[in-house]
Amino acid sequence: MSTISIAIDGPSGAGKSTMAKRLAKELGFLYVDTGAIYRTVSLYACRKGLAPTDGAGIAALLPEIHIDLVYGEDGTQQMILNGENVSGEIRTPQISMYTSAVSAIPAVRAFLLELQRDMAKRKNLVMDGRDIGTVVLPDANIKLFLTAAPEARAKRRWLELREKGDPITYDQVLADVVQRDENDTHRAIAPLKQAEDAVLVDTTEYDLEESYQLLLRTIRERM
Ligand code: DC
Repeated sequence: MSTISIAIDGPSGAGKSTMAKRLAKELGFLYVDTGAIYRTVSLYACRKGLAPTDGAGIAALLPEIHIDLVYGEDGTQQMILNGENVSGEIRTPQISMYTSAVSAIPAVRAFLLELQRDMAKRKNLVMDGRDIGTVVLPDANIKLFLTAAPEARAKRRWLELREKGDPITYDQVLADVVQRDENDTHRAIAPLKQAEDAVLVDTTEYDLEESYQLLLRTIRERM
């Protein structure tokens, strides 16, 4: 029996992970946050003191990296790097920016491609990222491209960080969002791009609940 995959792509801060997690729970599917996998590889390279643009150096580290995805009872994805749970540490603004550069390295993308495809072969899932509908799962049953204006995304991310006690300013978060958009859409390999057969959902004017209902309706119409 073949599995069902729902691909959700879009820029940082569009609400992909919040939406994908909730949709997966509603549908009884596994939620896979692929950004977290890129972040985990990046954390390893960062700890080794390499520049995020050092493609050869980071490629040489890949055989030392073993990644496991473990799911809590509530469906939360935990990232295990060589046996260590790094789920919290991969979420800092520094690692966000570092990962944006690391994820442009072709060897890193190749390293993670099979891991992601293999998961989709085994389970029904909602997978979010940047290239899921275009490269990782071109045959996904449903593809969504979730976006919002940079200012709206920065504001949501800033409020989230502030809640965690991070003193970062809104202007800095907006600058980071714009920089990451630039990196993610202009890299040579697997850039952030809406797949031709993806449904575009722009949540600039919607709150969380409205965005969720819109996505759920879109999926139900197609399933
Ligand atoms: O979704 P996120 O912010 O956790 O992603 C972190 C970085 O990883 C982001 O800059 C883009 C990159 N990424 C990617 O290139 N491809 C994916 N499928 C997921 C994330």
